[in-house]
Parts: sequence; C-alpha cells; structure tokens
Amino acid sequence: NLPEQVDVYEVGPRDGLQNELRTLPTRDKARLIEALIAAGEKRIEVTSFVSPKWIPQLADAEELLRLVGRREGVTFSALVPNLKGLTRAKEAGLEEAAVFISASEAHSKKNINKTIAEAVAEARQTTEAALKAGLRVRGYLSTVWGCPYEGDVPVSRVVEISRALLDGGIYQLSLGDTIGVGTPRQTDTLLNALLEYVPVEKLALHLHDTRGTALANALVGLQLGVKTFDASIGGLGGCPYAPGAAGNLATEDLVYMLHGMGVKTGIQLDKLVEAGMVAQELIGRKLAGKFLQAALGE
Ligand code: HMG
Ligand code: MG
Repeated sequence: NLPEQVDVYEVGPRDGLQNELRTLPTRDKARLIEALIAAGEKRIEVTSFVSPKWIPQLADAEELLRLVGRREGVTFSALVPNLKGLTRAKEAGLEEAAVFISASEAHSKKNINKTIAEAVAEARQTTEAALKAGLRVRGYLSTVWGCPYEGDVPVSRVVEISRALLDGGIYQLSLGDTIGVGTPRQTDTLLNALLEYVPVEKLALHLHDTRGTALANALVGLQLGVKTFDASIGGLGGCPYAPGAAGNLATEDLVYMLHGMGVKTGIQLDKLVEAGMVAQELIGRKLAGKFLQAALGE
C-alpha cells in the first residue's frame, strides 16, 4: 500500500554546496536552482542563514535569494539556526525556515556549539519567532541513525527530542541519517517507535548515502507511509562537522525508483538529468548519483 504521490524536498544547493571545498559563485548557484525548477522541483532548500565563519560556502545567502526571487508554486527554504539567522532570513524575504538540532551531544557541540538541551530551547525560540513572522518552519534532527563521534544513538532519545521539536510548532520533522549508517531493519524500528507519537504526515526522511543504504531505508519509510523524502541532485552533500558524511540520496535515484513503482512526484526525470549535468559542470567533477551516471553513459 504505497502512497500515490510523494514530495521530494531538494537539498542539493544547501546540503550539497555547504560541503564543497570550493565556494560557487552566487550566479552559478542560481543557475543550478533554475535547472531544478525546470525539472519540476517544488520544494528547494537553497542556502543557510548560519554563521559565515562556520559555513563560508553559503555566506551569500541574501544575495542568492535576491537573484532567484520568488516563484509561483515553488517554496524556497533555508537553514536558520537562531534569532540572528531569522532576522537575516526575514529581511531576505524567506518563506520557509528550517531549524536543525542533533540527537547526539558530541555532534551538537561540533555543529552548533550547543548541548542538546540548549539547542532544543533555541530551536523552539527560533520556531516561535519565525511562525510569528509568518514563515513556515520545518525541523531537522541529525545523527538519528548514528553519530560519527558517539556511535549508537538511543531510539528513546530520538523520540523524546522529536516530540519536543514538534511541540514547538514545526510543520514537519526531517530525520537525518547524517553519516549514512542506517540499515532497513533499524529504520523500521525507529519509525515504528516514532509513529506511536507522531502522525506519519509530519515525518520526512533525510538520508545520506555514504554506505549505499539510503534508497533501501527510503523504501522502508515509503512502505510505512512516509510521504516526504529529502534528496540532492547528483547525490551532492555532507555535513562539514560530521567527518565521513558523504552525499545525500541522489534526487534522480529516488525519483527513478518512485516512478518505477508507480508513485508520482511531479518531477521530470529527463530534466533532472539535465540539472545533474549542470551540477557536474559547475562543481567540475563527476557526481556520485547512479541514475545520472547511467543516463550519461547511454
Ligand atoms: P557560535 O560561534 O557559538 O555563535 O556559533 P555565537 O552566538 O557565539 O556568535 C558568534 C558570532 O557569530 C557573532 O559574531 C554572531 O553575531 C555571529 P561576532 O560578534 O563574533 O562578529 N552569528 C551569526 N552570523 C550570521 N548568521 C547567524 C549567526 N549566528 C551567530 N545566524 C552558530 C553558533 C549556530 C551560529 C554556528 O555554530 C553555526 O552557524 N553553525 C552552523 C553549522 C552548519 O551550518 N552545519 C551544517 C548544517 S547541519 C547539517 O548539514 C545536517 C542536516 O543536513 C541534516 C542531517 O544530514 O542530519 C540539516
Ligand atoms: Mg544532511
């Protein structure tokens, strides 16, 4: 019993580009975003309003939003870590903010310089202020399947933090396999534990494909009724504060599987390949996405 239609939430311009050593010029980022829109993508995380000292690759957030403007039927979102980020995001006209915290203490410290408790409080404060300002707010929970510093992360802790974030008013919680260590039975256990408290519509999966298990984990989620999947064009991505984090599940790989199973996405796969070619040209190397390489090899 699969969903008829799912939402693909594109994170390539944010999760992908934050992890590239070279900072792309703003106009190149805008060109990539245009290619994603041309493929029919409707939800795109375009940048981050984080500290430019921490993520210099995305220091041009304001300028990028000015360049891409607003698009009928397309929602641009961006990471917003705190009130300072929210002030910048509001001034730039952002419609959707994404707050983000971690399920492991060590990753939380490395990524945002806060304990989990401090991070939950700050995310809820940012969420409340963003909602008041009329933005939609999404949330991320990282290291749900495992932490690069601490290893296993207890499911009970994931459930507890997820509920605290959702109680703060986010419309959706995206569960991050930050370093791509998850396997399908673990995904099944985790989702079933969460589904005791959280309606499935509120959950999204954000899977990195470090060990090749992202699509298998996505399939488990799909079978349990999850209807939003994060993915990045060509499989770009990673977290600079999580060593070993590789790219996200490639958008084309996800869309290929979904369409093959009769699940609609509203995205045109051939145009997605064109967007993947743009990404490769701008980044200057072959990307990891399997469908992309197969399509280009034909
Ligand atoms: P901090 O150094 O502890 O911050 O960083 P602070 O509050 O002490 O402020 C220090 C300076 O930063 C001050 O400036 C602030 O004004 C400035 P100064 O007085 O020194 O000139 N500052 C800011 N500037 C611009 N925009 C802001 C901002 N906030 C403070 N928003 C902070 C704390 C959270 C800011 C920092 O740690 C940070 O920006 N971290 C972000 C790291 C990041 O973006 N990581 C990658 C994204 S998460 C991810 O990839 C996982 C995900 O994909 C899901 C998954 O895969 O699991 C989402
Ligand atoms: Mg990520």
